[in-house]
Amino acid sequence: MTTPLIIDTDPGVDDAFALALAVASPEVDLIGVTTVFGNVSPELTTRNALRLLALLGREDVPVAAGAARPLVHPQPHVSRAHGGDGLSGHADTLPEPTRGPDDRDAVTLLKDLLEAADSPVTVVPIGPLTNIALLLAAHPHLKERIARLVIMGGGVRGGNITAVAEFNLWSDPEAARRVLVEEDVPVTLVPMDLTRRCAVSAAWLAELAGTSAVGAKLVGLTPDYLATYRRFLGWDGMALHDAVAVAEAVRPGLLEVRRHPVDVECAFGPGRGGLLVDERLEHQGSGVDIAVDADLDGLRAFILDRLSALGVRQ
Ligand code: BDR
Ligand code: CA
Repeated sequence: MTTPLIIDTDPGVDDAFALALAVASPEVDLIGVTTVFGNVSPELTTRNALRLLALLGREDVPVAAGAARPLVHPQPHVSRAHGGDGLSGHADTLPEPTRGPDDRDAVTLLKDLLEAADSPVTVVPIGPLTNIALLLAAHPHLKERIARLVIMGGGVRGGNITAVAEFNLWSDPEAARRVLVEEDVPVTLVPMDLTRRCAVSAAWLAELAGTSAVGAKLVGLTPDYLATYRRFLGWDGMALHDAVAVAEAVRPGLLEVRRHPVDVECAFGPGRGGLLVDERLEHQGSGVDIAVDADLDGLRAFILDRLSALGVRQ
């Protein structure tokens, strides 16, 4: 039986790979995509999601636009890593979508899909957590319809936007706190400590580009992002953060997890948006599952294999 899957996203280069991996994975049925502000403006994230689904031959999947800003305080700035249009300046190399976004807003689409699904739905938030916090606040009874939230976000040992804050949590710390701390939905949190270790090389990208026109298009979206990660990693590669979360969603258990209580710093100061993980022994056994390790080469091979097969089927 396939697992129904919804992706909440702010495409975003690594979001593009994450969407492609979901489409390429027979274990899951991608039943909806919701968008959120984040890497670029909400208009661009929605347009990019529509274009990516057109590339992937899945224009049947509804795309609903969500939050245009954080819950409480305005976002200080957008990410620079993904280029001005969110896809390294190459969004217009993707096919023009033949349809617009769904008439419903993101929270309404999430609600409708959760209510209609035959079995509990896996939701994969790979942007700021604003839509998910709004969903849980407005429709708390739907928690039981969520099998698991597999969230890309946070850094246990440091951040990428500030010394302690990772982009998705930093973009809306109050929403992240609502979802990770105040609710009791099963969560697997995939932090940047692990996703950075799963970075892929330029050779991996070249191999994907050679598999099909779709693979080549995906790799064509990477130049600005790759340039940022070259500086960040110190070698010629890039982190596929969001695709690692989707990999865990389609193959539960692919990532090794440890359960710890967490909190999110919401005060205004140098720690804002930081993830606090309580690793004290006496608190083990409660909290959220944090992905801490994986067979990294196996994971890279799995993603490459899936994305390559997608191209062949096109
Ligand atoms: C996260 O931030 C975004 O820039 C990426 O798309 C990913 O979701 C990594 O910190
Ligand atoms: Ca993202």
